[in-house]
Amino acid sequence: MKGLILAGGMGTRFRPFSHTTPKQIVPIANKPILYYIVENLKNAGITDIGVIVGYTKKRIKKIMDCLGDGSKFGVRLTYIEQEAPLGLSHAIIAGKEFLGNDDFVVYLGDNMLKGGISKLVENFKNSDAEASLLLARSKHPEKFGNAIVEDGKIIDLEEKPLQPKTDLIITGVYMFKPSIYEYMYQIKPENLKEKEWGLTEAIKAMIDSKKHKITYSILKDWWDDAGDVEAFLRANRLVLQDIEHDIKGKLEEDVKITNNVKIGKNTIVKQGTILEGPVLIGEDCEIGPNAHIGPSVSIGNNVKITNTEIHDSVIMENCQIETDKKIGRSLIGKHIKIKKNTQTSHSFILGDNSEVRL
Ligand code: TTP
Repeated sequence: MKGLILAGGMGTRFRPFSHTTPKQIVPIANKPILYYIVENLKNAGITDIGVIVGYTKKRIKKIMDCLGDGSKFGVRLTYIEQEAPLGLSHAIIAGKEFLGNDDFVVYLGDNMLKGGISKLVENFKNSDAEASLLLARSKHPEKFGNAIVEDGKIIDLEEKPLQPKTDLIITGVYMFKPSIYEYMYQIKPENLKEKEWGLTEAIKAMIDSKKHKITYSILKDWWDDAGDVEAFLRANRLVLQDIEHDIKGKLEEDVKITNNVKIGKNTIVKQGTILEGPVLIGEDCEIGPNAHIGPSVSIGNNVKITNTEIHDSVIMENCQIETDKKIGRSLIGKHIKIKKNTQTSHSFILGDNSEVRL
């Protein structure tokens, strides 16, 4: 069985980040999303993995530099270029030569989930199903694709129904036998530039054919599609809930710590600082004096934060922050400087599509 990670796409909901960094490699709890995905595949015994990449050469290179050949995870990665982001079925068809006649798992490259996919893979291997979907329970099924199930099988799919018949939603992990291709070609839009070549429609066509059994597994833990910044920060909060307390750096006197806090080596936390876990701080950082960090903050390597209060945020590497304003619900990229304002007016240097809330 092979794996196919879909890491192409435009990432419009993740702009301006996606202009420079594909969302799939933005770190959640200081680890790129794609690392979690490769690890989940490896833990489910899938070591031959294709990665669909695309849209721009720069983005492709960044993903390849991040994951390498897979040896650091104990897997073999093959990169496959999708000529344009024309939809999930289009992306899977791009991987057809790599997949050959094998059964395969499709894993959307921006999906975060707890608990892994081993059970789904195991159930599929031991069944005569042609496809199997990983489902999750949701309080808001109207916002997602819904799976209607009966006797252990999926009997219908509904996209964002106004009045949901179920709380079971489709996550971004799918298992297929090669028979799915037939249904993908069946639903191929005539003009791909105007309409996306989707995957849900292909699975629906497979269900409607009544020729195949389509099964499912239900996730016990959380799942999130980190496709926009709000969902991304939610996933960061959820991952941080499980970090272990581990302090490798140095704490000066008068530093107050509550809940679990993880601090990397060569980091110094200066006096008067409060760390309100869960908080994750990388290596070579200088935090404080008089900072208040947390809860739910991930800080990358080589970050300096002085006199500032930050909660519910991701700060990537090499940033410098000093302000008397509270920072929250923020995703801050690499090499960002946030400074105190000494003038009566605010001063901004912002790239295209940036967002500021004052
Ligand atoms: P989406 O989140 O549906 O699409 P997107 O990444 O382009 O983002 P947006 O909607 O904000 O523009 O994609 C889910 C995953 O599938 C994501 O990791 C990107 C990947 N993908 C492809 O690899 N090829 C494609 O043609 C599309 C549409 C998505």
